[in-house]
Amino acid sequence: MHTITLDGETDFDGWRKAARLLAMNGVAPADVTWIVAGGDEPELFPAAQNTPLEDVRGTFNVPAPFVALAKTVILHRDPQRFALLYRMLWRLRGNHDLLQLATDPDTSKLESMAKAIRRDEHKMHAFVRFREIGREPKSHFVAWFEPDHHIVELAAPFFARRFADMAWSILTPDLSAHWDGHKVSFSPGVDKSMAPSSDRLEEVWLTYYANIFNPARLKTKAMQNEMPKKYWRNLPEAALIKPLIDKAERVTSEMIAAEAQEPKKPQRREEIMAKSHGTASAEQFNDTSLAALRDEAADCRACPLWKDATQTVFGEGPKQASVMMVGEQPGDKEDLAGKPFVGPPGQMLDKALKEAGIIRDKVYVTNAVKHFKFVPRGKFRLHQKPATPEIKACRPWYEREKALVKPELVVAMGATAAQSVLGKVVPIGKTRGRVIDLDDGTRVLVTVHPSYLLRLPDEDAKAREYENFVHDLRIVAAHLSESARAA
Ligand code: URA
Ligand code: SF4
Repeated sequence: MHTITLDGETDFDGWRKAARLLAMNGVAPADVTWIVAGGDEPELFPAAQNTPLEDVRGTFNVPAPFVALAKTVILHRDPQRFALLYRMLWRLRGNHDLLQLATDPDTSKLESMAKAIRRDEHKMHAFVRFREIGREPKSHFVAWFEPDHHIVELAAPFFARRFADMAWSILTPDLSAHWDGHKVSFSPGVDKSMAPSSDRLEEVWLTYYANIFNPARLKTKAMQNEMPKKYWRNLPEAALIKPLIDKAERVTSEMIAAEAQEPKKPQRREEIMAKSHGTASAEQFNDTSLAALRDEAADCRACPLWKDATQTVFGEGPKQASVMMVGEQPGDKEDLAGKPFVGPPGQMLDKALKEAGIIRDKVYVTNAVKHFKFVPRGKFRLHQKPATPEIKACRPWYEREKALVKPELVVAMGATAAQSVLGKVVPIGKTRGRVIDLDDGTRVLVTVHPSYLLRLPDEDAKAREYENFVHDLRIVAAHLSESARAA
C-alpha cells in the first residue's frame, strides 16, 4: 500500500509527479491512498507502510487532453478525484483512446467533473460582488464567495483583468485571492462560520486582515495548518492592506454592482427563465436541445471576447417561436444578468414591441455576438462594436439556435445583426423594412438597433426614428398573427 500526501487540494504538480512514479513502478490504483496535507481526511495509513518507489528512468507518455482534463478535475471537491485520475492514467497506458470513449464510466465521470468545474467558474465570474471598504484613492474592494469547488486560483486571473485598476480581495472558505493592481496573491480562506452578509463583510474583513495580514501578528501555526505550503511564498505584503489601516477614513459604500445575489438554492434554469418571463410557461423553455446548446456556448473560446466578459449571454425565448430577434451583443447589464436585452436598449425594445402589439415572451431574442465587448474606463465599461472576425466566430451559435428554433422570420436589429444574419455587410438605411427571402426558406427583416434610438441627440429625430422602428415591428406583428392563424 502506498500513501501519497499532496501539498494541497489543488496540488496538480504533486499529483502528477507521484502518479508518474507509481505508474512506472507498476503500482496498481487499488494500492494507492491519496491524502492532502492538513486536509480533513484522517491519515489512515501512516507513511511508514510505504514500499519505496524507485525513480525509474524512461519515458512515460499520456495524451495531452488527459493532462488538461486532470488539471481541471483536480479542482473538484470530490475526495476521490486523485484516485480516479490515477486509475484513468493507469488505464490509458493500455488504451490511449479511452478518453474518446464517452460510454466508459471513468471517462464520463471525469468529463462531468470537469463540466462542474467550468460551471462553477462561470458562476463565480457572474456572482462575485465587491463592497468598497475605505475611501478613494485608498479604497479596497472586498467580496465574499463560496465556490462549490477549489476554483479560486482558476478564477482569480479573470478578476485581475476585469477589475485591473482597483485593489480587491475575494474571501472564500478555502482560499482568498488578492489583487494589488500588479499581481494576484493568495492567502488562507475565511472560516465558513464567519460567512458574512454584505453588511458584515467589512467587519469580517478587518478581523481577517488583523489575523492574517499584519506581519507582527501573523499566526504562523494556525496558518500552517490552514493553508497549503505552496501559498506561503505568495503572502501579500503589508502594502496591499495599507488603505485599511487608517480607520478614520473608513466608510462603507455601495457594492460595485447591483445587489444581484446568487439564489441560495440552485434553481433550474427553466424555472428562472419562466419566472422572469411572467406569462411563459416552464414547458416552453424546457427544451433539452436548446439548453444543451446554451451549456455548450457557456464554454465557448472561439474568439477572445470571453476573456473579459462575465459570461456567455445566450438567447432566450420559446423553442417554437416563429420570430427570432437578433441584436448586436450583450451590454453591461446583460453581461451581468446573463440575459439578452435587459438594460436600457432592452427597455426601449420592450416598449416598441408593446406598441406594435407584440408580446416579448412570444419571440426568441438573441444576439449576433454572445459576449460583451468593452474597454474599461474606471468603474465603467464602455461598449465596443464587435469586429468582423468576432461576428464570424460567433455566427455558428446563432445558426445553431436558428436551426433549433426554426423561426419563420428573423429580425436583424442593426448592422452587426444584419451582417451575421445575411452573411454580408449591408447598408441598413437601404435594407430596412423589407422582408428578404433566404435560400433556406426563412425570411429576414432588417431594422435599426434600439440603441441607435437611444443615441440620437435630437428629440424630433428620436420620435421620428422610434415611429419608424415601431412601423418595422408592425410588419413582424402582422407576420406573427398570420402564422398564428396558419397554425
Ligand atoms: N444590445 C444588444 O444588441 N443586445 C443586448 O442584449 C443588449 C443591448
Ligand atoms: Fe464564443 Fe461568441 Fe463569446 Fe466569441 S463572443 S467567445 S465566439 S460566444
